Amino acid sequence: MTRLAILGSGNGTNAQQITEYFAGRGDVEVCCIVYNVKDAYIAQRAKNLGVEARYFGRKDFYETGAALEYLRQKQADWVILAGFLWLVPPAMLEAFPGRIINIHPALLPAYGGKGMYGHHVHEAVVANHETESGITIHLVDQEYDRGTTLFQARCEVTPDDTPDSLAAKIHLLEKEHFPRVIDETIQSHR
Ligand code: GAR
Repeated sequence: MTRLAILGSGNGTNAQQITEYFAGRGDVEVCCIVYNVKDAYIAQRAKNLGVEARYFGRKDFYETGAALEYLRQKQADWVILAGFLWLVPPAMLEAFPGRIINIHPALLPAYGGKGMYGHHVHEAVVANHETESGITIHLVDQEYDRGTTLFQARCEVTPDDTPDSLAAKIHLLEKEHFPRVIDETIQSHR
């Protein structure tokens, strides 16, 4: 069994989609959901899905190593960042070399980097009157949004799009592609 640990900070729609995609599969499972924002809805989704979820704060990630220790204890093979908004600590990168996957709600390298996450991305794309946006699924390294791209998908941005309507288009692309690309990436490493 290949075990996926999901890290998130917010609503958790991607975490839910990934968990549901792999449910009932005999070869891949979501072994835990780790979150770093105390009252994030992702915790409730984990509960509904019957997946163990654990909160870890800044100290647990960057000082004591408790978050990494938990991933080891859960025997995670891959780490999936699904709306996780902190830089992955060096010790975690070392523990999962080439095995941490992130999704970003824009066509990187555009609209990436520190502070460019979630709604901020869509606001910037709309404010700049872009005609297209999309998603980037990539491996994670020590910088924000810089690792090797695994997959991109595009969508049109129309003049009447708002950050909210663009976010809805992006979520559809995430739903359609993120679980599948995770699956294919795992299979290609077997
Ligand atoms: C997703 O749109 C994801 O692409 C984005 O946060 C959202 C999380 O939604 N990630 C980033 O901005 C990372 N820089 P969710 O919690 O409902 O899955």
